[in-house]
Amino acid sequence: MRRPRSILITGASSGIGRALALAYAEPGNRLKLVGRDETRLAETVAALRAKGADVVPMRLDVRDREAMSVAIAAVDKDDPIDLVIANAGITTGLAPHQDIEAPEAVRALLATNLFGVLNTVEPLLEPMRARGTGQIAFIGSMAGLRGLPYSPAYCMSKAAVHAYADSLRGRLEPHGLTICLAIVGFVKTPLNDSITAMKPFEISDTAAAKIIKDGLAAGKATIAFPWLLYVAASLGRFLPARLYDRIMARIEANVPETNERVR
Ligand SMILES: NC(=O)c1ccc[n+]([C@@H]2O[C@H](COP(=O)([O-])OP(=O)(O)OC[C@H]3O[C@@H](n4cnc5c(N)ncnc54)[C@H](OP(=O)(O)O)[C@@H]3O)[C@@H](O)[C@H]2O)c1
Repeated sequence: MRRPRSILITGASSGIGRALALAYAEPGNRLKLVGRDETRLAETVAALRAKGADVVPMRLDVRDREAMSVAIAAVDKDDPIDLVIANAGITTGLAPHQDIEAPEAVRALLATNLFGVLNTVEPLLEPMRARGTGQIAFIGSMAGLRGLPYSPAYCMSKAAVHAYADSLRGRLEPHGLTICLAIVGFVKTPLNDSITAMKPFEISDTAAAKIIKDGLAAGKATIAFPWLLYVAASLGRFLPARLYDRIMARIEANVPETNERVR
């Protein structure tokens, strides 16, 4: 059973990241929290401190490679990170009347969901490898298992994260690191609330955080939940592609375009 003490979480000011931070908040645990929104981040910090955790707020944009690199190296030098959770993410997609995503929205999404993940993880790879220990968790999605017609760029970003996590696992676990990919279904958060669609087996952010925390403590390679959705989504990949497309086309979904833009 792993008991990380020094923990870095991105996207800790809302939803799953905030719930994870709360789940790890206890005396003796030292949490480093990345987010942009000052008020939400401050609220999370206060809630964690009330539970006895030591908290370092890191008001950072995960898209800012230089700032992330400098800040993460500094906190890691001061208190080596046992566990990093690359969680910060956004969504973008298509309304029923749209067929093509705006290129600006696609790039904004990739800047956060893909390059933001790299900016979180890369500064810790060499230090963790040198120490021969450290756990890296990626927050993926069922949407990364197979492209869906309502959110092409989001699916692309999560599929890339899945492939990256699996690749790192094979290469770095022999050096003492542990790499985990969480493949997450519908979780009630502001991100998920922005989407209008059927959301089978939706769970709360607190429930999701407990599943992820337990899976990380057990050192799992993959934490996929809810399992029934995971089985259905995984089996779906074996269907003929156009049959799968036809089934998905029958599902009504409205995934709003992100307001984020590459700076
Ligand atoms: N909810 C679901 O159903 C679901 C399902 C599968 C996977 N996921 C994944 O779970 C992760 C968390 O999503 P959530 O549902 O918890 O969403 P959320 O409630 O909207 O929280 C997203 C978090 O990411 C942070 N963030 C976004 N862009 C950022 C940036 N450029 N720099 C720093 N922080 C940034 C936000 O902080 P600021 O607002 O302060 O920037 C916020 O703390 C995402 O990777 C998402 O793709 C969610």
